[in-house]
Amino acid sequence: MSKKIAIAIDGPAGAGKSTAARMAAEKLGIIYIDTGAMYRAVALDTIRKGIDTRDKEKVSQLVGEINVSIELTKAGQVIFLGNEDVKHLIRTPEVSIGSSNVAAVPEVRKRMVDIQRGIAAANSVVMDGRDIGTWVLPDADLKIFLTASVEERAKRRYSELIGKGNCTASIEEVEADIRYRDFNDTTREYAPLKAADDAKIIDSTGKTIDEVVQMILDEVNKINGLKVE
Ligand code: DC
Repeated sequence: MSKKIAIAIDGPAGAGKSTAARMAAEKLGIIYIDTGAMYRAVALDTIRKGIDTRDKEKVSQLVGEINVSIELTKAGQVIFLGNEDVKHLIRTPEVSIGSSNVAAVPEVRKRMVDIQRGIAAANSVVMDGRDIGTWVLPDADLKIFLTASVEERAKRRYSELIGKGNCTASIEEVEADIRYRDFNDTTREYAPLKAADDAKIIDSTGKTIDEVVQMILDEVNKINGLKVE
């Protein structure tokens, strides 16, 4: 593959974006960027400082001091707060809810989007998030909006947490978290979650991850001059 490309994958929590995006990027031999991890790192820092993640004013004041960065390694993206690798601290239910809250603050989004655009300017990327096709990379070569029913997303997220052995929540609580974030992410004023007009919508309900990845690769193959097996 010679031409630099950008693939945007957006959609609600638990639709399978990160797994599909990672697998597609691997097939394409390009970088995968999980933008949600950046908002999660901001939420972690906010919580550690004892600030309520819903307090927009305080969060917007804090954002200048937050030093979130991404390092791209062979094993994938590593997310840092200052010098601390926080990859394993940002998947708790508290941070999930908090990330959706801090992501509604325009000052936070501006900082994160600058970093995301910088990475995409220098590399071919598959980037997943909520506003990649609509706002971060409006000229992306391919935009996918990946969705699934709320029940299926809750089931998948619950199994994932159980699989990691650290799930203390019930499936009802996991579903409530997803519904909270869906509402928050789609109704915020600044860069809400929605499909770009030119996005290809994929409903992953009832589909395996391999089927979803193949659908994405089929779309990539329609891009002029690209051929991926
Ligand atoms: O993809 P995720 O579940 O890790 O994202 C965590 C939260 O971050 C999500 O609820 C909304 C926010 N987010 C966002 O607003 N914009 C993005 N590009 C990525 C995530």
